[in-house]
Amino acid sequence: MRIRPITGTIGADIDDVHMTAPLDDEVREGVVDALATYGVVAIRDQSLDIDAFEAVARCFGPFGDTPFITPVDGHPDVLRLVREADEQGPLFGSGWHSDWSFQAAPPSYTMLYAVQVPDAGGDTAYTDQSAAYEALSPRMREICDGLHGVHSAARSYGPRGTFGRPDPRRSMEITGSDDALATQTHPLVRVHPITGRRSLFINDVYTVGIAELPGGEGRALLDFLLTHCRQIQFTTRIRWTPGTLTMWDNRMVQHFAIGDYAGHRREMIRITLAGDVPVGVNG
Ligand code: SIN
Repeated sequence: MRIRPITGTIGADIDDVHMTAPLDDEVREGVVDALATYGVVAIRDQSLDIDAFEAVARCFGPFGDTPFITPVDGHPDVLRLVREADEQGPLFGSGWHSDWSFQAAPPSYTMLYAVQVPDAGGDTAYTDQSAAYEALSPRMREICDGLHGVHSAARSYGPRGTFGRPDPRRSMEITGSDDALATQTHPLVRVHPITGRRSLFINDVYTVGIAELPGGEGRALLDFLLTHCRQIQFTTRIRWTPGTLTMWDNRMVQHFAIGDYAGHRREMIRITLAGDVPVGVNG
């Protein structure tokens, strides 16, 4: 397995490995170690159908819950993310987020496999939430360490959310519901269960406030932190080729699907793996 960092901060390409279940311990551990170091890895030149994708994903842990989106027939844990060449309307995943952060125990890893991608465009961008935390001043880190973010799926899947109503123009079957209005509180600064590294566990799409700072105070701090996280030096982007299997760690990165490929079809399959209840600096 050859690991090549993409930037000085986040992301690595992995070549010369075949992801076929059952995975060798060495391969599995190599990928998990690379994820702990780089946050997102693109494992190039794989050849996976849905069964093989599921079998490889299972080597990394049990699957998480996948709400609001109709999964692939016969594969309740696999989503097909499709955008047709002539499709209009909002692009799924196009906003900085960490997958399903509104859940009580949000996913650890997401695995996304490229079936069909444009020759250019359709990259996914990532930002390193640990590097962003570490770049804050000691006083700001101390303030953040004691706070909790409020997360909700309302803006995406609530009745008035981006995907809240049926849309005949959409290839993906997404069903909004009042369930999306529920809120979930998580530590604003999360301690990674493997590395012990701290990261800002907030994202643009699902973090709607700060529990201890109502109204404008919380909004102002959240806006500052979200803008801080998007600085270019914390980011990378994965350029897809058919057969690229990308894995990222939702506990330490946000991601963003870039919608710059009108006129081209893009098809991916995705599995999210079960995670833990986030642990903060004070437990
Ligand atoms: C996602 O948010 O999981 C989708 C990412 C992508 O399609 O690039």
